[in-house]
Amino acid sequence: MKAIRCNNYGPPSSLTLEEVVNLKPDKKEVLVRVKACGVNFPDTLIIQGLYQFKPELPFTPGSDVAGVVKAIGEDVKHLKVGDEVFGFVAHGAMAEEVLIPANACFLKPKQMDFPVAASFMMAYGTSFYALKDRAKIQKEETLLVLGASGGVGLAAVELGKLMGAHVIAAASSDQKLELCKHYGADETINYSKEDLKSTIKAVTKNKGVDVIYDPVGGSYSEAAFRGMAWNGRYLVVGFASGEIPKLPLNLPLLKGASVVGVFWGGFAMGQPKENMQNTITLMQWYAEGKLKPHIDKIYSLADAPKALKAMMQRKVKGKLVIRVAD
Ligand SMILES: NC(=O)c1ccc[n+]([C@@H]2O[C@H](COP(=O)([O-])OP(=O)(O)OC[C@H]3O[C@@H](n4cnc5c(N)ncnc54)[C@H](OP(=O)(O)O)[C@@H]3O)[C@@H](O)[C@H]2O)c1
Repeated sequence: MKAIRCNNYGPPSSLTLEEVVNLKPDKKEVLVRVKACGVNFPDTLIIQGLYQFKPELPFTPGSDVAGVVKAIGEDVKHLKVGDEVFGFVAHGAMAEEVLIPANACFLKPKQMDFPVAASFMMAYGTSFYALKDRAKIQKEETLLVLGASGGVGLAAVELGKLMGAHVIAAASSDQKLELCKHYGADETINYSKEDLKSTIKAVTKNKGVDVIYDPVGGSYSEAAFRGMAWNGRYLVVGFASGEIPKLPLNLPLLKGASVVGVFWGGFAMGQPKENMQNTITLMQWYAEGKLKPHIDKIYSLADAPKALKAMMQRKVKGKLVIRVAD
């Protein structure tokens, strides 16, 4: 079978499409013929050796995946050969076949096509866990989303609105913010043109925001925290800007605020039952037409490096997907 291979840590241009050995599931694994693979920012870090864990070289990147079950391990009871599924892996999904741990592989709803299923899990799983389980966001609270038109950001805008929050979307261009409005944002801030802290104060009439969802980091983080309301929760989701911010600790003290870490992969692996429950809720909302994942562009497997490059160049709105087979 063919797979995108990372033989040395480096930029997307160093990835190659190669023929690799076929895979066999162990007891608790599902072998899936990949139809589509979602692209996520962590994929751009993992190939450069900059992610939380470094897979042994050579390896195949890609973690969000949808396809058809080809074989199952003897302990797998909830799936059978031929089932249409989606799931996630630490890496390995940018390939014609992938092994998925059984507790991270779910039946795909019939009405959800493969590209949508492959773009769903990481974005909505992370943002729902962040807002519901970590921030415990309440109806009518104010939510500020940074990087709001990105993969996890747009899902946070859409879910925040669905969960009854007043949503302020912040992003770097008016075009990106137009999409956020379409996904329910009540207010927008273009942080490449407007000062973040004073604009937050202006749009919240000096009250500040209750919950901040931050997948960007860098200089935006402290400016956003300074616009936090009393008892606020600051969700640390990621550092797409490339800079891990350092926050003066007098700020959480003065605002009675919490800094809350969000690590969806750790939650999904460590608390699979709770993650399954969240996934069921998200699937129900999708089936009811309440969630509409935005796919910006679909690439072929051979063009996966181009997709990763576009993401690193900040060119993506919503999600990118690699279509591996029709
Ligand atoms: N904690 C978790 O469990 C978890 C799960 C999934 C993802 N993440 C993290 O969340 C972050 C976003 O992931 P994603 O898949 O949503 O990525 P994405 O679609 O590329 O979105 C990232 C957003 O960050 C902004 N950004 C600012 N500076 C950037 C830069 N130098 N390069 C690229 N983007 C930049 C961009 O928006 P503007 O141009 O509008 O600023 C972009 O839309 C990543 O750091 C990722 O590792 C964390």
